[in-house]
Amino acid sequence: MKVHVVFIGLGLVFLVIGMLFGIWMGVQQDFRFAAAHAHWNLVGFVTSSIYGLTHRAYPKLADSRLTWIQCITHVIGVLIFAPGIVLAVATEQHMPAIIGANVLVLAALMFMFIYFTHDHRTSPD
Ligand code: HEM
Repeated sequence: MKVHVVFIGLGLVFLVIGMLFGIWMGVQQDFRFAAAHAHWNLVGFVTSSIYGLTHRAYPKLADSRLTWIQCITHVIGVLIFAPGIVLAVATEQHMPAIIGANVLVLAALMFMFIYFTHDHRTSPD
């Protein structure tokens, strides 16, 4: 399985879940969790899709030994961070959101490293 397929596929799964969460908020008229909904969509769908499309645009990036570690780190970060915001809003327990945020930063740093250390000039066109 190629990493861009995983990133884009998971991004779409996160998108549908995020939309259903948005509909739930609207139906309940309970907008306390708007930040969790927004970040679920933004790091879950938008960021994952951009990582996936960047891999698709620059296939050499996937040669990095960090590729799958970065992908798994990002997904773990999403799964901790957005539910962590729900927990922070509902219970004042902020630690999961803080941990999730740092895991996401770690994944972003890894992606930046992969991008700058591999041949990103070789694009399909
Ligand atoms: C079926 C699709 C969606 C529904 C029903 C939905 C619903 C909502 C609702 C009810 C709110 C709260 C509005 C308020 O506080 O007055 C909201 C906020 C927001 N949504 Fe969505 N949404 C959807 C898709 C998305 C997507 C795809 C994204 C991003 C890629 C997104 C990003 C945001 C952002 C940034 C906010 C503002 C958060 C804040 O004020 O803290 N939403 N959405």
